[in-house]
Amino acid sequence: MKIDVISANPLKHASPALVIGCFEDAKDDLFTACDAALDGCLGRLTAGREFSGKANSTRLIHTLGKLPAERLLLVGLGKKAELDDERLRQAAGNAVQALRAARVASFATALHLAGRLETAPEAVTVGTLLGSYAFEQYKTKDKDERFGFEAMTLLLPKGGNRKEAGVRVGAAVTLCRGVGLARDLVSHPGNVVTTGYLADTARELAGRHGLGCRVYEQDELEELGMNALVGVGKGAAEPPRLIVLEYKGAGAKGRPVVLVGKGITFDSGGISIKPGAGMEEMKTDMAGAAAVLGTMAAAAGLKLAVNLVGIVPTAENMPDGKAYKPGDVLTSLSGQTIEITNTDAEGRLILCDALHFAQKYRPAAMIDLATLTGACVVALGHEASGLMGNDQRLVDALKRAGEECGERLWQLPLWDEYGEAMKSDIADLRNAAGSRDGGSITAGWFLKQFVGKTRWAHLDIAGTAWSDKARPYCPKGATGVGVRLLIEYLRGR
Ligand code: BES
Ligand code: MN
Ligand code: ZN
Repeated sequence: MKIDVISANPLKHASPALVIGCFEDAKDDLFTACDAALDGCLGRLTAGREFSGKANSTRLIHTLGKLPAERLLLVGLGKKAELDDERLRQAAGNAVQALRAARVASFATALHLAGRLETAPEAVTVGTLLGSYAFEQYKTKDKDERFGFEAMTLLLPKGGNRKEAGVRVGAAVTLCRGVGLARDLVSHPGNVVTTGYLADTARELAGRHGLGCRVYEQDELEELGMNALVGVGKGAAEPPRLIVLEYKGAGAKGRPVVLVGKGITFDSGGISIKPGAGMEEMKTDMAGAAAVLGTMAAAAGLKLAVNLVGIVPTAENMPDGKAYKPGDVLTSLSGQTIEITNTDAEGRLILCDALHFAQKYRPAAMIDLATLTGACVVALGHEASGLMGNDQRLVDALKRAGEECGERLWQLPLWDEYGEAMKSDIADLRNAAGSRDGGSITAGWFLKQFVGKTRWAHLDIAGTAWSDKARPYCPKGATGVGVRLLIEYLRGR
């Protein structure tokens, strides 16, 4: 979608549709002026309770020549005192969903006029771009009937700083490209997004953005001693890999923030195989990797003044004669030995080697993202990602970033006592606890054994990487969770 920012009066600007925001408990000047131009039509709609202005409500009407815009789309903003950027993103997402339903491909918007001048254009752009996302690459039928948005025009008032708004809108576009990349990677099936595909994607990003890139192949991983990562990949035809991307936005010397993303391109459970029902969703088990790649692309595109290292351990978890199996003992890169008690607890194995490996970059902070446990979905559902860590300041900063951007996090404890469950009779650790109790925490506790003294946080995105229902600015399917969160966090540093 093409996006323009112009100075124009919404009442005088011609377009297929004009989008305006409406509060449920207040009428602003634009609403009143549109109502007057339409001979009181809007007042009738609200009086007749056909349009309430409540959050997540929309109403599309034809203007019949009474306004230069052919249509007027009213978008509910809820209570005036509650308006924030998240509400605006949602309103913009609801607007494009209504426009899509009516097949209106180009529109002008005044939604941002209801919000804070500095941040509202970015919020509206993010809501619009993410809300209009569609993944249709594998649909071959009725291609010419498919709908696609063409253009959005943001209308700024006369005194509004068009250049400033243009820069912020441009930043939103770059950010949404990163989210779009993450969503695409998660949406593609496991027979397309293999470990090699993730490596190629990283190389392509490196070429486009001037990033450092290194892909460690299986023989190198074996040589390095990354036996936990290699062990998980043993049963698959596609070999495991370790992908490293480097972005230097803050000079050669500054210690980097290191991002680590779980890249299981398909999780069958391995020999401890999963039940068949719903197993197809396990193509999304590389959503952490997708978030890291999307964040690296966005950070470089935004030219953030930070040093970043993105690390993606990637493998496919499959049962086979060569597969690792329950009872096996693996010696991790850190030297700690791990008894395999469940091959379906594979994420923590590929991550533990990557987290140990990451320490050679002397991270200022290290953040991992992983669709790690079903237990996290049980605990938090789909409204928040699990958050754990060994540094409360880092945890708090991430939590704040999540609230700011609408990707919420909820902290779980990592007390030593949880480690009891991860003791093995024969090795230093076991990879899965005997009971499911506190399953997200025991997984997080396991990871903690591999981060040394590095400031570290772990995000369990098992419940937030994929949405079974459409949300205001996220259609059903891959959410791209993590990209906006990490960029928000990095911007705040
Ligand atoms: N990838 C899964 C976790 C998952 C579950 C992600 C549901 C998204 C939705 C992970 O590898 C897994 O299988 N975890 C096991 C751990 C258990 C064996 C200790 C789980 O959660 O059951
Ligand atoms: Mn698993
Ligand atoms: Zn998994």
